[in-house]
Amino acid sequence: MVKKFKAGYIVAIDGPAGAGKSTVSRLLALELNGRLLDTGAMYRSVAYFAVKESVSTAVGFSKIARRLKFDYDANNQSILVNGQEMGHRLRTQKVSALASKVSVFKGVRQTLTACQRRLGKMWAKTSPVVVEGRDIGTVVFPDVEYKFYVTADPKVRAERRYQQLKKQGTKGGSLQSILKSNIERDKQDSHRKYAPLKCADDAIVVDTSKMSINQVVQFMSEHILGKISLMEG
Ligand code: DC
Repeated sequence: MVKKFKAGYIVAIDGPAGAGKSTVSRLLALELNGRLLDTGAMYRSVAYFAVKESVSTAVGFSKIARRLKFDYDANNQSILVNGQEMGHRLRTQKVSALASKVSVFKGVRQTLTACQRRLGKMWAKTSPVVVEGRDIGTVVFPDVEYKFYVTADPKVRAERRYQQLKKQGTKGGSLQSILKSNIERDKQDSHRKYAPLKCADDAIVVDTSKMSINQVVQFMSEHILGKISLMEG
């Protein structure tokens, strides 16, 4: 099949922690010759600075969100915050747990959602954009045509995160503690008042428990590119 790449479309990918979303989104962006907008990294950045500056109030979190200037390197590898590369500092368990907490606040969400829309629309002028998060298909870009909800069995998700942290040499705790904190985060993310994690009615659900990363990416890209060639006749 001859692949056609087209600018001007956004692919929304949502799902719970550790379902393989980040890896899949990165590879899909590469496959589509597009860019990746990792929105979780924005919430993690707010949490990172909150820890660093001992901020613990809703007003304080919102102030941090407003102050941060986000950018991403064009190779989809890392987020730059106020010009500084954040790297693995955003991946510790402390930051992960606090990211879920800061993301419940309306002020934080409004600021980050506006920033996500601005970046996504700007990038989509010149290339396909894969946007990854929890509320992309429901709140940030509810009108996009390509929406996926990536999920997996909680034990499989915890095992994957454990292996990923081990490989990076990042302190992440035991498998049991990752499973526990994932369950807590899922509960928090899906029960919050503003923009909770949920599957959009028109999203395609992809259960990755028994699929390899490559199978998931192939499934998604075939779906997108197949639709595009149908539209182009
Ligand atoms: O995808 P992640 O694990 O990097 O996300 C970190 C946290 O950020 C997650 O617990 C919930 C929050 N988040 C959110 O509320 N909305 C998004 N669009 C992305 C992430």
